[in-house]
Amino acid sequence: MKAVVLKDWGDAENFSVQEVAKPAIRPSEVLVQVKAFGVNPADFKTRSGTAPYAKSYGHPIILGWDMAGVVVEVGAEVTGFKSGDAVYGMVNFPEPGQAYAEYVAASAAHLALKPAELSFEEAAAAPLAVLTAWQSLTEHGHLQAGEKVLIQAASGGVGHLGVQLAKALGAYVIGTASGKNEEFVRSLGADEFIDYTKANVEDVVSDADLVFDTAGADTIFASAKALKPNGRLISIAYGAMDKVLAVRPDIRAERILVHTSGDDLKTIGQFIAEGKLKIEVSQVLPADQIAEAHQQLESRRTTGKIVLTF
Ligand SMILES: NC(=O)c1ccc[n+]([C@@H]2O[C@H](COP(=O)([O-])OP(=O)(O)OC[C@H]3O[C@@H](n4cnc5c(N)ncnc54)[C@H](OP(=O)(O)O)[C@@H]3O)[C@@H](O)[C@H]2O)c1
Repeated sequence: MKAVVLKDWGDAENFSVQEVAKPAIRPSEVLVQVKAFGVNPADFKTRSGTAPYAKSYGHPIILGWDMAGVVVEVGAEVTGFKSGDAVYGMVNFPEPGQAYAEYVAASAAHLALKPAELSFEEAAAAPLAVLTAWQSLTEHGHLQAGEKVLIQAASGGVGHLGVQLAKALGAYVIGTASGKNEEFVRSLGADEFIDYTKANVEDVVSDADLVFDTAGADTIFASAKALKPNGRLISIAYGAMDKVLAVRPDIRAERILVHTSGDDLKTIGQFIAEGKLKIEVSQVLPADQIAEAHQQLESRRTTGKIVLTF
């Protein structure tokens, strides 16, 4: 099979498409013929060697956690899937994902049936970002209907799904991005939009129940200030919560790490079926343009998600 192989930590030029052996499956796994795979900022942090969970990986290595495809082989212990099923998932995280390939071996627990409403490209774009948004808002953020939530970087891979999920949960949603993304963020259902290049977010919002910060060090202190007393701050891109709590000791602040879950994808599938959650795929690139995909992501200026296909 063809796969995108990373020869060493470093820049995106270290990737090349090569012929490699098809993976063998364990009894708890299925073999998926990958129709499309997605990329996330975690991928370029892993590629460069800066992600903490990447330290133990050896080279050459096949990266890639997000994918959608068709089951072609089923392990002896697997009950939920059969050959021919269209599936998607965030596979093998935080081990090397190996989904930048024509076939991937994946634990059945990491997969869900692909919602019929999604193309393979849309489904491949979704898993890591949508699981992050869902777990941040619900499991950690305990978002309730009627609450006010501020979502920092509402136009990004995670943020654009966070806006829609928060609306679907009945919240009042304020999204931030630069002005070029205002129409997009409002189209997702945001009740208010703040252009962070024109206004200080904390000057506009000071009574949020929950802030979901997907941007990081540039925004985290404004996020803390935008909360009402006893508000909740969930961050996915900034970890020094002691510094945040020094500024706002009256809030709860947590940095979370997404976990893979086919069951969560199944739950989220209801919103997709109801038309409440759309996946924005801004670009579909051929697999041999993986370096281009990584470089675009590293610019931090992409809207929605980038997906690749062989
Ligand atoms: N902890 C976890 O489990 C976890 C899970 C997923 C992701 N992450 C991390 O979360 C971060 C976001 O991931 P992602 O996939 O959503 O990234 P992304 O798609 O690359 O985000 C890009 C978006 O961020 C917006 N943006 C950049 N700076 C901003 C700012 N100062 N204020 C508001 N918006 C801003 C950009 O909008 P403009 O172009 O309009 O500026 C762009 O649309 C990454 O650092 C990623 O590694 C962590």
